[in-house]
Amino acid sequence: MTALAEFVSTLFVFVLASQGVSLLSAPAFIFRASAATPESSSASATEQCFKCHSQPGKKLRFQDGTTKSVYIDKAEWMGSIHGSILVCVDCHKGMTPNHGLVQKKPRFKNAREYTLERSNTCQHCHYAYYTRFLDSIHYELQSAGNRAAPVCVDCHGSHAMTDPQLPRVEISRKCGRCHTGVYRKYQASVHGQALESDNQDVPVCTDCHTAHAIANPTSGRFHVTSYNLCAKCHSDQKRMKRYNLNPDVLSTYLDDFHGASNRAYAASTGAPQKAIATCTDCHGIHDIKPFMGTTASHSRADVRERLVGTCRKCHAEATVSFADAWLSHYPPTLKTAPLVWLVKWFFKIANPTLIALFVLNILLNLWRAGARRTRGSQI
Ligand code: HEC
Ligand code: HEC
Ligand code: HEC
Ligand code: HEC
Ligand code: HEC
Ligand code: HEC
Ligand code: HEC
Ligand code: HEC
Ligand code: HEC
Repeated sequence: MTALAEFVSTLFVFVLASQGVSLLSAPAFIFRASAATPESSSASATEQCFKCHSQPGKKLRFQDGTTKSVYIDKAEWMGSIHGSILVCVDCHKGMTPNHGLVQKKPRFKNAREYTLERSNTCQHCHYAYYTRFLDSIHYELQSAGNRAAPVCVDCHGSHAMTDPQLPRVEISRKCGRCHTGVYRKYQASVHGQALESDNQDVPVCTDCHTAHAIANPTSGRFHVTSYNLCAKCHSDQKRMKRYNLNPDVLSTYLDDFHGASNRAYAASTGAPQKAIATCTDCHGIHDIKPFMGTTASHSRADVRERLVGTCRKCHAEATVSFADAWLSHYPPTLKTAPLVWLVKWFFKIANPTLIALFVLNILLNLWRAGARRTRGSQI
């Protein structure tokens, strides 16, 4: 029986490890299976914790005179992702039930310092997520002294945690709690509006920024590679078909002067001195809408007029006809761009022909040299 319990707990440990849950500080529940007493002491301690902590009114005091309620909703805790697998002291190590009986001097300066300190507990079990977080702009800001930058608890909460992937709309709302300006723009965009109506095909904040390893989006490198973020969905034939959208927007972008340059930079490690136009320069970032709006009936001239405005951000002297250098998202045809079309076909035919002639030239030379040598030896 003990052997079986040990086997089960070993298997459990293995499964946790494979899920990225670190065992550096093995929580009490892992050992519960092989514990001598059927009812672990920490599990009953949890009941004791609730004797006080399910009573409203008790408060934790801070040095700045503010307080925080220490009420924990038992039902919320039991329904949370940790509720059925962890006990209180897995996170609140060394805390005994009688700590509440003595009045202590406040230990923490304020509520924020308290949260930052307690948030360190997550890394003991979720080390993989913690290391990713160490690479993020939020962590960088936090270590530079910006106490408002988020830590685990700000996005996940502490006792009422639910699956952070669901529902998807909550992810953007989570980021939006602090990034109110960006969130408002996003909410009004074609992506944000679709998300609000339960569309699962549009991007939430973390599709472009990730949740834990958020990179600095204002760096030149981020700009150079950002077209890949859009391409993930906009060159996905099946997804685009559902909205009757052109799936060639990426290939046509990469074929033009801006796209070809950005692709070259994206493949190396550098960034250009001057930003080169990418999807977001023409379409916006968080405020993306159909290029001319959904209802406006517009002519080609309207599109050119608006388009040249986007060119002027970088080509200050651009005129309306300058915008024609951009062939739109349609592969050039004999009708829309005859010159480009002809040049493209010229090279398509000329290149292989030239190579064939070159090879033929070498072969003829070899043959001639060979023939001369044979003739020479005969003499
Ligand atoms: C006798 C009542 C009582 C019991 C039992 C009790 N607590 Fe508390 N707890 C308090 C009170 C009162 C406070 C707020 C004042 C303070 O910090 O002492 C508090 C504060 C806390 C805090 C916030 C302070 C900090 O250092 O983070 C945590 C966490 C906590 N309790 C966890 C627990 C855990 C875990 C248990 C069970 C092992 C438990 N409590 C059992 C009364 C109690
Ligand atoms: C997964 C880790 C984890 C577990 C398990 C856990 N806590 Fe906490 N607890 C935290 C964190 C993190 C904070 C700090 C939250 C904050 O500042 O917003 C905290 C804060 C608290 C506080 C201070 C008031 C508050 O809500 O911020 C009390 C009281 C507390 N916990 C009691 C408990 C009790 C009782 C249990 C068991 C039923 C428990 N905790 C289980 C991580 C945990
Ligand atoms: C004592 C170990 C331990 C601590 C400390 C701990 N967790 Fe967990 N956590 C687990 C285990 C075990 C699971 C369930 C296994 C899994 O799915 O990864 C889990 C699951 C989760 C999940 C859901 C994972 C999923 O795949 O759906 C999230 C989110 C999470 N924890 C966040 C946190 C945060 C935030 C903290 C800090 C406040 C924290 N955890 C502290 C052990 C811990
Ligand atoms: C800026 C907000 C934010 C911060 C900070 C954050 N997370 Fe997350 N986390 C999320 C979001 C959003 C998700 C779910 C969506 C995703 O992974 O893209 C998530 C997912 C998770 C998951 C479950 C993964 C899954 O696939 O279900 C775990 C575990 C987790 N986070 C742990 C942590 C830990 C530990 C920390 C602190 C080191 C942390 N998170 C900090 C927002 C955050
Ligand atoms: C608790 C508040 C909070 C939450 C939640 C939060 N952030 Fe932040 N974030 C900040 C702060 C503060 C900064 C510092 C710069 C600023 O003030 O905008 C920042 C910076 C950033 C930056 C860099 C901005 C720049 O100009 O360099 C990005 C990108 C970012 N956050 C994305 C996210 C995403 C994505 C989420 C959700 C997964 C999220 N944030 C959730 C507070 C938060
Ligand atoms: C479709 C991809 C995409 C989505 C979705 C997205 N972003 Fe961004 N975000 C970007 C790009 C690209 C940049 C960099 C813009 C640049 O080149 O300067 C950026 C820049 C930022 C910045 C820094 C610059 C600024 O405007 O303050 C913050 C903060 C930010 N995003 C937060 C968010 C939040 C919060 C959400 C969700 C509400 C979100 N983003 C959704 C692509 C996206
Ligand atoms: C997670 C997938 C996804 C990502 C990433 C994404 N989009 Fe979208 N986008 C969509 C879907 C789906 C629609 C259609 C929504 C609808 O019509 O309800 C859409 C609509 C659009 C539209 C409106 C098209 C029209 O005329 O109706 C534009 C423009 C657009 N996206 C540009 C971008 C740009 C630029 C980026 C990168 C910064 C980007 N998208 C990233 C999925 C995505
Ligand atoms: C030089 C400006 C420019 C760049 C760069 C650009 N677009 Fe566009 N895009 C446009 C214009 C203008 C339209 C409107 C189409 C038209 O009427 O010709 C458009 C249309 C679209 C549409 C709607 C297609 C449809 O079927 O109606 C999507 C989606 C889109 N672009 C995505 C992208 C993505 C993704 C990128 C980057 C890979 C990108 N665009 C790069 C200017 C640009
Ligand atoms: C984000 C800035 C940016 C925007 C917006 C932009 N461009 Fe450019 N463009 C560049 C850069 C940088 C180069 C490369 C110039 C160089 O090599 O020095 C370039 C190169 C070009 C070239 C190649 C010839 C030349 O001058 O080197 C043409 C043509 C061009 N752009 C047209 C356009 C048109 C048309 C638009 C508007 C639809 C536009 N650009 C919008 C930055 C931009």
